[in-house]
Amino acid sequence: MAEVPPHLLERSRSRRAALGLGGDDAVAAVPAVVTTATAAPAPASAVAALATGGGSPPPPTPPKAVRPHRPRRPAIPRFALPMLLLLPVWAISYVSVFAAQKEKLVGPEAVGTAVYSVNCSRCHQPDGSGSDSGGVGRPLWKGEVEKTFVSEAEQIAFVKRGSYAVGTPYGNPKREGGQHQAKGGMPKWEGALTDDEIKAVIQYERSVLQGKPFPVDTVAPGPAPAKK
Ligand code: HEC
Repeated sequence: MAEVPPHLLERSRSRRAALGLGGDDAVAAVPAVVTTATAAPAPASAVAALATGGGSPPPPTPPKAVRPHRPRRPAIPRFALPMLLLLPVWAISYVSVFAAQKEKLVGPEAVGTAVYSVNCSRCHQPDGSGSDSGGVGRPLWKGEVEKTFVSEAEQIAFVKRGSYAVGTPYGNPKREGGQHQAKGGMPKWEGALTDDEIKAVIQYERSVLQGKPFPVDTVAPGPAPAKK
């Protein structure tokens, strides 16, 4: 092999390189150029991103911007907080109201109160004043009903039966102010009301309408212990 002067070799290399040719290097050079050309954009942008945003900011920044907002959206609105805080209070009162109602509704006092209100007050007035305040029925307040009927049992018998024939004396013969004489108009309640209801309403009349507490002690829990 003849010696080629170094400057010719150099010119040939540069020439080949300019034409894209080459000896052994040419094959490797072309793919190398291609890979660099195709791969260039990605590394370039990555480098640019790294250069502008630094190493970690790009990925963590979007999550950081979103994360604080996501918990806030489902968070409880401020106006709802007092209501939520009062929820246990409401629950307790809700339950206690039903407990109280249940207690009252099963008691004879409630039965007597309800029976009087529904069946008797329209003629005897809600306060028992009766004809003293324009009612059709006799006054049952201020001890009047207890003067007529010395015992609860006598009153029960009268209320079950209703008015006697007009002019018939009834109740306590030694009544203060004279024995009552039937004038009519008092309905018969036997059959319309149960024995328990009649007993309860009469106890109501002899206690609550007289300004006294309902006789809880004397109230029979059921029909069995009722004294007659
Ligand atoms: C339609 C009107 C009316 C209704 C309703 C009514 N009463 Fe009377 N009540 C009278 C009248 C009228 C008398 C007087 C009866 C008479 O003199 O014959 C009377 C008398 C009485 C007396 C006797 C009072 C006394 O001192 O002489 C009692 C007790 C009584 N009623 C209880 C009741 C009860 C309890 C109820 C409900 C379950 C009731 N009444 C519903 C009209 C009514």
